[in-house]
Amino acid sequence: MTEFHISATNVPLRGTLRVPADKSISHRAAILAALAEGDTRIENFLPSETTRATLHCLRALGADIESVEPTTLVVHGRGVHSLREPSDVLFCAGSGTTMRLLAGVCAGQNFLSILDGTPALKRRPMARIAEPLRAMGATILARAEGRLPPLAVRGAPPLRGIDYTLPVASAQVKSAILLAGLFADSPTIVREPSASRDHTERMLRALGVQTSVGDSRAVCVHPISKLQAPSSIAIPSDFSSAAFLIVAATLVTRSDIQIAGVGVNATRTGLLDALGRMGAQIEIENAREESGEPVADLSVRSAELRATQVSGGEVPRMIDEFPILAVAATQARGETIVRDASELRVKESDRIAALVQELRKMGAQIGERVDGFVIAGPTPLRGARVDAHADHRLAMSLAVAGLIARGETVIDGWECVADSFPDFGETLCA
Ligand code: S3P
Repeated sequence: MTEFHISATNVPLRGTLRVPADKSISHRAAILAALAEGDTRIENFLPSETTRATLHCLRALGADIESVEPTTLVVHGRGVHSLREPSDVLFCAGSGTTMRLLAGVCAGQNFLSILDGTPALKRRPMARIAEPLRAMGATILARAEGRLPPLAVRGAPPLRGIDYTLPVASAQVKSAILLAGLFADSPTIVREPSASRDHTERMLRALGVQTSVGDSRAVCVHPISKLQAPSSIAIPSDFSSAAFLIVAATLVTRSDIQIAGVGVNATRTGLLDALGRMGAQIEIENAREESGEPVADLSVRSAELRATQVSGGEVPRMIDEFPILAVAATQARGETIVRDASELRVKESDRIAALVQELRKMGAQIGERVDGFVIAGPTPLRGARVDAHADHRLAMSLAVAGLIARGETVIDGWECVADSFPDFGETLCA
């Protein structure tokens, strides 16, 4: 286990900072390019533990993926019916996205796949994908009464198209069903309680799949016999990774940073709205579209913050940003309240319990709620020995807390940052 040491330097963050590629879009680009017919060059692919797991599984399923450079792939797609039975267990590492999206793909294949992962992944709920995939005709077996990995997926093409209402907004579950829907005999409709990230729908459309959106919360995918390779996909920088630098620059006085080419898909940028209400100074410049995704350059200057409240439909729009929002809230005047966010309990860690436990060690005034947390601020933080709980987003949030705390902060279990932002420590302290 590696540890990361960080102390407040009082040196402002300045200049242009680089953020790695979007994790969610990287997974989807590799999966869909493998199912397409023809070569797809994927530029700015994220080289991380989780995306490597997806590449490893796709290769085990017979996909031909060439790594030209760590961030450039050429996928030699051989079509929607080109996958073959893997001879071994598909190891998804700690990646929920890999397991859930590939379960959807495997449900549409005429063979058996077994998907497994790290001890942390073995604790993530899978009934949410098993139930709809079974309703489509696949056989899905799992541990603990069908709830936990490993998953055994016996595909049964053609699947039955279903009209399915998600019990919770989840892009991973939505995507698993939409990917399975490609291998169905009739259209598949997924309805969400509120909008989750829509990268799968956007990429399917870019590949020529007929999708229709009845209202903002329902998406319909039509079965396909062919997916046309898009020739190239450029992946934007990950807003969820930029979030740590946005909050760091907001909190460290006299900071002024730019982050270029960040994905600003509205289903992902709830944190910008929350920080805007808190008084943050963030400019969105040069807004454009690249490979079907909204992209922009961000400028952030330090600012005094006031408390805010987050609940309802804003929660899925910033589902990965609550750990860093909590750090910002410790420095905001008033009581920040997060509700309707019980999904945080089934992420890479129980993010509500872990945040409360670790931020309290640093002196934060944070209270736990069943579906969120309450933070009173502003509170001066003190350096402490804290634990990342094998959760990359918690590790990086604690590092930002360490940057503004008095004394040294030591983060145990730092290696998990390799899941999404392997050189975060160097970027933050450059
Ligand atoms: C992701 C969706 C979200 C998010 C995860 C990545 C995706 O999970 O937390 O980090 O790539 O679809 P849920 O769909 O479970 O909310």
